[in-house]
Parts: sequence; C-alpha cells; structure tokens
Amino acid sequence: MSKRILSVVGARPNFMKMAPVLRQLSMHAGLQSYLVHTGQHYDDAMSRVFFRDLGMLNADFHLDVGSGSHAAQTAEIMKRFEEVCCSVKPDLVIVAGDVNSTVACALTAAKLCIPVAHIEAGLRSFDRSMPEEINRIVTDAVSDFLFTTEPSGNQNLKREGVKKEKIHFVGNTMIDSLVHCSGLRDEIFMSAQLPFLRGAAYFLTTIHRPSNVDDANQLLDVLDILEGASRLAPVLFVTHPRTRERLQRLKAADKLRQLSGNVKEIQSGFIYLLPPLPYLEFLGLLSKSKAVLTDSGGIQEETTFLDIPCLTLRENTERPITVELGSNEIVGLDKERIAACLSHIMTDSWKKGSTPPLWDGHAAERVVAALRRSSGLS
Ligand code: UD1
Repeated sequence: MSKRILSVVGARPNFMKMAPVLRQLSMHAGLQSYLVHTGQHYDDAMSRVFFRDLGMLNADFHLDVGSGSHAAQTAEIMKRFEEVCCSVKPDLVIVAGDVNSTVACALTAAKLCIPVAHIEAGLRSFDRSMPEEINRIVTDAVSDFLFTTEPSGNQNLKREGVKKEKIHFVGNTMIDSLVHCSGLRDEIFMSAQLPFLRGAAYFLTTIHRPSNVDDANQLLDVLDILEGASRLAPVLFVTHPRTRERLQRLKAADKLRQLSGNVKEIQSGFIYLLPPLPYLEFLGLLSKSKAVLTDSGGIQEETTFLDIPCLTLRENTERPITVELGSNEIVGLDKERIAACLSHIMTDSWKKGSTPPLWDGHAAERVVAALRRSSGLS
C-alpha cells in the first residue's frame, strides 16, 4: 500500500525550503504526497507569488488561520491540523524551519503518534527571547527525522541528547531552490520594473524581527544605521508588513522614499522603500547588490551561497557557518563596527567566502532518500 506524506508550509520562509522536497516526493510513484498551507502568511505577496515562482502546486488543505498572538496562532493551527491528520491518516508529517506553523504541526503530529521529519533541524541561536528559538527546540524534541543544514546543527542535537540515528546531515533545501531558480535570476532582474537600478551600486535591506521593529527606539536606531549606509550607496529597503506598519507609526518620512514607478534614478543619501517582493525578483536584487543588511535567517544563507557581503543586524545567529565560511558578519546595531564593515565593502576588501558543505542543490534528494531508507517509505 502506498504511504501518505503530509508536508506543511505556512509562512514565507517555508516555501523555498519545502518546494524542492515536494518535487522529489512527486517523483516516487509509491508515495502519496499532500500539502497543507496553514495560512500563517496569507497576503498574495507573502504567499501566492512564492507558489508561482517556485513552481509549487496549490495546497491540498488550507487552514486559513491568519494572524494572532503566538499562543492563539499556534493553538488554532494545532486544532485545524489535527482534523486534517485525522482525515488523511498520514504515515509521516514533514515540517520545515522555525515558524509557528512548524512547531504547531510537529506537536500535533507527535501527539497523534505520527512520525515527524524536520527540515533545517538543530539550529540554535541560544537566545530564548526569539520566538523562533523556542519553535526550533520544541520541534526538534518531538521529531523523528532531523535533517540538518550545517555541522553546528549536528553538534547541538547531539549535545541535547538526540540519538545519532535520527540526525541526517543533508545540506540546505533552501539553497536547492536558489540553485533551481538561478538560471532565471538575471533574466528576471533585467525584466524587473526597476530599470533605474541597472549598474548602480546599492545596499539591500530587510528588517522584520520583533526585537528590531517592535520597539520604536530600536527601529529608529536601525533607521540611523541605514541612513549612514545610504551616504555610501542608496539603500533599497524591502519591507515585511510588520515593518511597514511600524514605520508608518514612527512617522520617519523624512528619511524614506517610496520606490514607485515615477522614481527615475536612485541616489545616495536615500532609503527607498519597496513592498515585499516575489522570490525571483528578490533574488535578482540580492544577487546584484553591493551588500545586504538584514535580520533575516535565510538571507544570511543566500548571501553566503552567492558570496555577497552580509551584515546581520542581530546579536547572534543560529547559522554560524555563514560567519565561519561565508560572507556574513554579526554586527548588532553597533554603528562604528558597521561603518568599518561598510568601508571594507566599498573598497572591495570584504572577506572571501566559500560554500558550506552539501549546499549543492541536492539536499532534497538526500532528504527523500533518507526517509525511504529509514522509514520504509517505498
Ligand atoms: C514569521 C516567522 C519568522 C519569519 C517571518 C518571515 C514566527 C514566530 N515567525 O514572522 O520566523 O522570519 O515569518 O516573514 O512564525 N502579516 C501580514 N500579512 C501576511 C502575514 C503577516 O500583514 O501575509 C502581518 C500581520 O500584521 C501579522 C504580522 O505580519 O500580525 C506578523 O506575522 P506572523 O506570521 O505572526 O509573524 P512574522 O513576523 O511574519
């Protein structure tokens, strides 16, 4: 009898991590693969365009949970996902990353005694004030297959007492998506409706962590840093809905420009706001940027793979390989340190990165091979 696998996506960073796994699952006739979208991210720009860009089929089940407090969102996903599990009766649930949808579905499945596979297991920032850190710890604790992206993940899991048979070092499925789409990148960039960018040096920024945007003083510090950077090259600030909302409340309009169709040329001294971008357009902008200033997790990895200088505006990272081997530095909101880094970047004397082991575009193949080997999925 063919085995049923229920894979879960919910928030933007899940889509690129899960798309390559879904593609691999679809190649095995003996597997019935179902996709659940929790609806944690629901705007077209945060969800639908990623299905399009990544060539994903529509989800089989939509839970439509929407936004809420952490407890409310997590609880609602659990209630609705439990119903799906009871009707599909899957042999395995696959979750990815560290968002609320990840922990909610992992916990639900574990309590129904359904085996759980976690893509991107073992990452630790050791900062429990981050909601994602709690999600990572809990998800790993209830998972049966822990697929890691970098050696630190293996070490963290072993230290926490996870049996080594459960840990599978497979590489990075998000990099699989990047490799898969890389042929399209330049083409998309050239056709993006931002012709005034061509040839211009610019910094790209994304900031959305609660620790950076929820507190007005902290967000003003971030804007000061971006303003400093903009004196060297214009800053393109791709805003998450959470950030956009906080910026509107701050009334920091003198520092910001909307990057709309009537902007003819971008200039140093300005921070240009863009809406959330589709995956391919964002990769296009990323691959041509002089450097990236971010508090995202995934973008630290994408810049490492593309060898683009990355300054992470946080006090820690759960992805240390991006600093050890890659092009990333953890700079917090330390203005002097950031100024020194930017001057290295502008004089092209930034450290030369290398690609972490197994970030080769084939991680999802290894995930599915390990699942078939270890769990008798045919
Ligand atoms: C979530 C993840 C974070 C990830 C980020 C990527 C958790 C705990 N956090 O954070 O790890 O880096 O996604 O984007 O799961 N909103 C919209 N439209 C949407 C989705 C959200 O407007 O489609 C707004 C809502 O006002 C919402 C707020 O964004 O309240 C926060 O959304 P939520 O999903 O709770 O967390 P993120 O901040 O997006």
